[in-house]
Amino acid sequence: MTRHFRTDDDLTSAEQHRVLSRALELKVDRFASTALAGPESVAVIFDKPTLRTQVSFATGIAEMGGYPLVLDGRLAGIGRRESVADVARVIGRQVRAIVWRTFAQADLEEMADVAQVPVINALTDQLHPCQGLADLVTVAEHTGGLAADGPALAGRSLAYVGDGSNNMAHTYLLAGAVAGMDVRIGTPPAFQPEARILARAEQIARGSGGSVSVHTDPVAAVRGVDAVATDTWVSMGQEDQADQREAPFRRYQLNADLLAAASPSAIVLHCLPAYRGKEITADVLESEASVVWQEAENRLHVQKAVLEFLVGEA
Ligand code: NVA
Repeated sequence: MTRHFRTDDDLTSAEQHRVLSRALELKVDRFASTALAGPESVAVIFDKPTLRTQVSFATGIAEMGGYPLVLDGRLAGIGRRESVADVARVIGRQVRAIVWRTFAQADLEEMADVAQVPVINALTDQLHPCQGLADLVTVAEHTGGLAADGPALAGRSLAYVGDGSNNMAHTYLLAGAVAGMDVRIGTPPAFQPEARILARAEQIARGSGGSVSVHTDPVAAVRGVDAVATDTWVSMGQEDQADQREAPFRRYQLNADLLAAASPSAIVLHCLPAYRGKEITADVLESEASVVWQEAENRLHVQKAVLEFLVGEA
């Protein structure tokens, strides 16, 4: 059966543990995986802006012996010029895997249903699972590594403050629950996570020994945690609402006062791009606690591990 990485919980706790461990190995030996030798092509398609995702997938695929076929989704017009299903059938016959950044999660899932090759979610409006894995591996590097057995980050805690309804909030809920973490979202009442995702994260957490919670008080969310994360208040596709999306979130800014409520050894995560003075202050982003550049690099290592896993399972 073809395996995909459409949602964070497409990997079980044991599989996520395996992928994160492999990412740490590939970080030490960049050329240890030859899973795409041939070179086999991987289509990497962007319907939204990108920097880290394009660089890390293109670099990673090449390092694995493959060929990164980077496509501008606007030229292909997927779902407009041609249906998602037709595109899936055309590309799926030629490449080894498909990586897609797009808007609707349903479109990504349709691509996976129809293409006969692994499909990887490189960000949708709903989820950003590759970033989730990069963040987990970064937390592991700073909190004593991965658990010897069981969920990868059992007992570690992470708070996300900001837009609780966006892709990063959803990804932290699901990926953190799979990893057995204590995940806390600090967000205004009007920006709660999707109920279906929260319920799914609660269900996963019951099995992994983790926990998830949503707070309207940002200090309550952050209190004592090992990692504090935030993200832009204006996600890609919401640019025309930028003005209205500032006031509700001001209280949730990741600044030195809020960070002081976390563990004294807490790390700061941000998927980037960061808007200094909005969701995070410049001093926090540039502080000793901030590991955002390491986190960005870890995209490379985890995505290679995911590709190797999916290609190996297929
Ligand atoms: N929530 C952000 C994440 C960027 C990597 C967005 O979707 O624009």
